Amino acid sequence: MPSIVMNSASEKSIVRDYFKATGFDRWRRIYGDGKVNTVQKNIRLGHQKTIDTVVNWLSTDANLQGLVICDAGCGVGSLAIPLAQQGAIVYASDISEKMVTEAWQRANQLLPLRPTVSFAAQDLESLTGQYDTVICLDVLIHYPTQDAAQMIGHLASLAQSRLILSFAPKTLGLVLLKKIGSFFPGPSKTTRAYQHKEEDIIKILADNGFKVIRQGMTSTSFYYSRILEAARG
Ligand SMILES: C[S@@+](CC[C@H](N)C(=O)[O-])C[C@H]1O[C@@H](n2cnc3c(N)ncnc32)[C@H](O)[C@@H]1O
Repeated sequence: MPSIVMNSASEKSIVRDYFKATGFDRWRRIYGDGKVNTVQKNIRLGHQKTIDTVVNWLSTDANLQGLVICDAGCGVGSLAIPLAQQGAIVYASDISEKMVTEAWQRANQLLPLRPTVSFAAQDLESLTGQYDTVICLDVLIHYPTQDAAQMIGHLASLAQSRLILSFAPKTLGLVLLKKIGSFFPGPSKTTRAYQHKEEDIIKILADNGFKVIRQGMTSTSFYYSRILEAARG
């Protein structure tokens, strides 16, 4: 059977529609602290570990105060808010207006007197400006590697010194696990999850002038995320 070739524009509109509706409700719950099912709780814990790893890397560098950061695909602000709490100036954005509104509300509760974080409803491909550090966590999972390459290329052009990305790694074990998972479709699995080979991502970074300087991996039963920090040069 011939496979359907999907271009980036339609892929993006599927993701946009998903995060306008089912995706927003699902991920807002996962990224919150209310009651969720066991799988979602496992994903919540894994995601929080990824956030903690990145916050820890940046705070260890001891220069967060005033550091200008772009958080592309910020979701509900899980990363942008703690970074702003530590004094960074964060420009956070997301393709989903609902996500951005939720992030803004959470930031207002947690950071009422710290207007160092701003949120914009914007897809990352249209972001402009220059930032010391550009971060994009758990977004590339929504796109095939060829689209991810273009997205990383654009993010790299915005980053003066550093780019931090996370993605679902494509390893044999995880490919098998994903196949097993696809036998158990559930109502929440409404977007495809794309895994990327680490060597492909490292090459894309290198093609854009970035070299990996720190790496991390979060694995729980239902959440896998490779985290790479790459610096110019
Ligand atoms: C799985 S969530 C991760 C959110 C956040 N980065 C985090 O780790 O908490 C993926 C997010 O990417 C956003 N997104 C997907 N495609 C995007 C694009 N092309 N530009 C900007 N945001 C995008 C979605 O709306 C969603 O909020």
